[in-house]
Amino acid sequence: MKIAMVGSGYVGLVSGACFADFGHEVVCIDKDPSKIERLNAGVMPIYEPGLAELVAGNVKAGRLSFTTDLAEGIAGASAIFIAVGTPSRRGDGHADLSFVYAVAEEVGASLSNDAVIVTKSTVPVGTGDEVERILTAAAPKHRFAVASNPEFLREGAAISDFKRPDRIVIGTDDEWARGVMNEVYRPLFLNKAPILMTSRRSSELIKYAANAFLAVKITFINEMADLCEKVGADVQDVSRGIGMDGRIGSKFLHAGPGYGGSCFPKDTLALLKTAEDYEAPTRIVEAVVKVNEARKRAMGRKVIDALGGMEAARGKKVALLGLTFKPNTDDMRDSPSIAIAMALADAGVQVSAYDPEGMELAAPMMPDVTMCNSAYAAIEGADATVIVTEWDAFRALDFERVKALMNAPVLVDLRNVYEPAEMRAKGFAYTGVGRG
Ligand code: UDX
Repeated sequence: MKIAMVGSGYVGLVSGACFADFGHEVVCIDKDPSKIERLNAGVMPIYEPGLAELVAGNVKAGRLSFTTDLAEGIAGASAIFIAVGTPSRRGDGHADLSFVYAVAEEVGASLSNDAVIVTKSTVPVGTGDEVERILTAAAPKHRFAVASNPEFLREGAAISDFKRPDRIVIGTDDEWARGVMNEVYRPLFLNKAPILMTSRRSSELIKYAANAFLAVKITFINEMADLCEKVGADVQDVSRGIGMDGRIGSKFLHAGPGYGGSCFPKDTLALLKTAEDYEAPTRIVEAVVKVNEARKRAMGRKVIDALGGMEAARGKKVALLGLTFKPNTDDMRDSPSIAIAMALADAGVQVSAYDPEGMELAAPMMPDVTMCNSAYAAIEGADATVIVTEWDAFRALDFERVKALMNAPVLVDLRNVYEPAEMRAKGFAYTGVGRG
């Protein structure tokens, strides 16, 4: 089967490479000629473990190719995926659908065979209806249907998430389109991946509801962490204790500096917008958005407290370990490190930092921060070291060396990587999250 993937960003590229790996013939299309040029030369536009190898292998096998020419790319494809960005619209947080609609126009104008048009981009409820309207208005001479097929890929684990999904959601009432989508995902059925066939609107909402629910879960445990600090409890144990209840589940209950990334912040805002438009307010999600935003900057205050308060902090030096919103990505979007670095700079603290993959993108976002070429270089002369992102490289630091390099042995562990008692035994003033 031939599949076209319009948009070769994170989702399009990972999905396209994985579909090719299933044995389909895949063409990834993108408007950006430099991106396509680089992809043709084997250079990945993003950092994702295993992606470069997967792309190279499938290009070599002749199943995966890249083009800027949409009409040529979609010719002969039975499924045409729209996987372009839906960033937050400036001003109101609504998802900006202009890229999705532009693709729909172009596909409508160049459709040269029967095809199912599938929105993989995260799009608000009703977008599929609009895509269908645009396609109908273009009056293509061929049969088409519009389906929704949201992605649930986590950055850093996207390939395994694609190949071993918890579920595949397909939204369309059209029997023919369901058949085509079954073909697209057939290789996964062999692994017994659960597939949920539903209406297009339900499918669109499932994506937002899933991300919002996960954001709620994280924010819930973050607030419990604050309470733990006040009452003298340990959030790690509270998390374990509630997570063992099968109804709650243990995942996404790790307290930290607040969620960031390309999805949760933008998707929660877009869900609020939809809820407002349809006059069905989602107050829980409203609270989550506010609490998470405030939390990021509050983490800066936590560091300042560890330095002895505002007065004492001025002129001191802090090392940030990890800048990306989570490990195994170079993505800096809405990373808590940005608000933390800003809060520290505002308090007159000098900040140095190290991140294994994120510094190139981080540097222009935090001009006052000195980027260093190793964790130990960042730590040198610091009055406090802060673990912001739990990269594996920070899980086994040589604390004798760290102590010798630092001006004062103060460790703020925003990901609870280390055991408080052990760190205190090593001579560190240790602050975690929710470890009262
Ligand atoms: C998320 C969803 O998991 C994925 O299904 C969706 O398609 C896209 O959005 P991603 O943004 O890659 O994926 O990251 P994820 O691993 O979900 O983490 C999001 C944020 O939550 C990170 O900032 C992470 O540090 C934070 N987080 C996650 C916590 O603070 N605690 C947790 O227990 C889990």
